[in-house]
Amino acid sequence: MSDKYAVLGNPVKHSISPQIHAEFARQTGQDISYEKLEVPLDGFAEFIASLHKKGYKGMNVTLPFKEQAFQLSESLSAAAEHAGAVNTLIRTPTGWRGDNTDGVGLVRDLTKNLSIKLKQKKILILGAGGAVRGVLEPILREGPEHIHIANRTAEKAIALAEKFKQLGTVIGTGLDGSFEDPYDLIINGTAASIKGIVPTIPDGLLKPDGAAYDMFYAKEPTAFVEWAKQQGAAIATDGFGMLIEQAAESFYLWRLKRPDTKKLLNQFLTN
Ligand code: ATR
Repeated sequence: MSDKYAVLGNPVKHSISPQIHAEFARQTGQDISYEKLEVPLDGFAEFIASLHKKGYKGMNVTLPFKEQAFQLSESLSAAAEHAGAVNTLIRTPTGWRGDNTDGVGLVRDLTKNLSIKLKQKKILILGAGGAVRGVLEPILREGPEHIHIANRTAEKAIALAEKFKQLGTVIGTGLDGSFEDPYDLIINGTAASIKGIVPTIPDGLLKPDGAAYDMFYAKEPTAFVEWAKQQGAAIATDGFGMLIEQAAESFYLWRLKRPDTKKLLNQFLTN
């Protein structure tokens, strides 16, 4: 019988993770099944316990359960510890080990697929919620000159910057904070994209050869991508590549096989 995997969320019906993992399994010759399962909002702990009993080998966890998955994991990777959230559960004999592949996924899409260097670059990140916390450590490991976190609620940006300051130069401000530099890269990690809203920041914050990246993705260009194009961004892209790369890293953690993500990206983009 195939080894069983699933993505857990609520809602989860729009997830394309089953297609992504089916393609990874085909590419690498792995015999797995991968379903999407909608979990009751008040029943995450029982749900993952029952999947353990049923023999599942691993799960992806999406909104709104990433923090609960963190709390319920028997052990945690360093990435999950930094993120304070878990998007990948790996079966152990007695429970689940928690990992987080979101940050690695973002950094791989930026550096590998888009050839954007982060070393000694000035980076502005919009938002200070779980999505941003999840990617800070891997970005800082690339050695940027500094990261400026700007958030609607300034206190959250300041607190997040404080938490990560031992890993590099990170400052936190409100969206009206003092933006001293034009930036090489602006990343949108706010939930505003879901509503088609772009956080209000001054014009001219992006260098002429700068890049803009929306961690959110949609079939149509997101409001942030449109905004970035108007700002003259050399590269303006949504987070579809991040989705594929974080999935590939989860697949690797479960199967110890690396799928060819470029092939899959091209396949999806041409369909
Ligand atoms: P997630 O886990 O997806 O990051 P979250 O923790 O609720 O979700 O964080 C959402 C982020 O989007 C926050 O930074 C939030 O700003 P606040 O901290 O001020 O709430 C930001 N956000 C959501 N809607 C926004 C909007 N309309 N304009 C600007 N920022 C917005």
